[in-house]
Amino acid sequence: MITGAAGGIGLAAARRFASMGLNIVMADNDAAKLGAAASQVLAAARDGVEVETLALDVAKVEDVRRLRERAFERFGDVAVLMNNAGVGGGGHAFENLAGWARILSVNLGGVLNGVQAFAQPMIDQNRPALIINTGSKQGITTPPGDTAYNVSKAGIKVLTEGLQHTLRNTPGCQVYAHLLVPGFTFTGMTRRSAEKPPGAWSADQVVDFLLERLAVGEFYILCPDNDVTREMDNARMTWAMQDLTEGRPPLSRWHPDYKDAFAAFMAERG
Ligand SMILES: NC(=O)c1ccc[n+]([C@@H]2O[C@H](COP(=O)([O-])OP(=O)(O)OC[C@H]3O[C@@H](n4cnc5c(N)ncnc54)[C@H](O)[C@@H]3O)[C@@H](O)[C@H]2O)c1
Repeated sequence: MITGAAGGIGLAAARRFASMGLNIVMADNDAAKLGAAASQVLAAARDGVEVETLALDVAKVEDVRRLRERAFERFGDVAVLMNNAGVGGGGHAFENLAGWARILSVNLGGVLNGVQAFAQPMIDQNRPALIINTGSKQGITTPPGDTAYNVSKAGIKVLTEGLQHTLRNTPGCQVYAHLLVPGFTFTGMTRRSAEKPPGAWSADQVVDFLLERLAVGEFYILCPDNDVTREMDNARMTWAMQDLTEGRPPLSRWHPDYKDAFAAFMAERG
């Protein structure tokens, strides 16, 4: 069960899970893209795999409940829920209130709607199952540019952490939550040209990494890309948290007074 499955990371995940033999429900609000996307998934699927599509808006709780009914009616249970649909284009703190409302309702509201609709029925299945929510490094190090997007993705991180805490304290629960944090990935969201920029990963690389890290049970699935290593991410996240612990201004990484200190910190961490 994958939202945002008509393109990018969601479609790559749908192809991969279908190739592993899972039946797939693909949900997306881009009805025009869903049909072709489903054909791709069927072409990659193991024999016998069935694919269902549903055009919906994850921001609408009634749509997500309809999705749950459809998934359980058609397939009986849900082994993997991937709350992945997302949009950008919000803006800074005091502009574009309508854009803020949309981004928060799709990105954060959409994940919350998915968790609320599916978590309890998945627990009640009494067998292992996964809830994978797609966050972003922008929800962790919160760079300037699109504060609304950062807030939505920071919300997904906090929601997924709380979800995992609740799941692991629920007696008998075999459902595990994971936060997928893609790096720079060449998809519809980031496409500026036909060619993949050298620094970006493909959506398939993100899914390869997701499966590798799921196999070892990692909660935070923090993807590198061709420009950013795990060591660089670790240093950037540490610096961001140290804004609080060291009493620096927020987003000091992008503050001219801290430019040299940040560069030295990164150099020291390799
Ligand atoms: N591409 C990157 O570099 C990158 C980096 C970090 C995080 N992400 C996250 O990865 C996720 C997948 O994005 P992507 O990069 O594959 O982009 P994408 O645009 O290719 O895929 C997003 C999909 O979500 C769908 N969608 C948008 N709003 C929806 C709604 N209201 N209801 C249902 N479906 C909706 C879109 O139609 C699209 O098919 C997003 O949550 C995004 O924020 C992407």
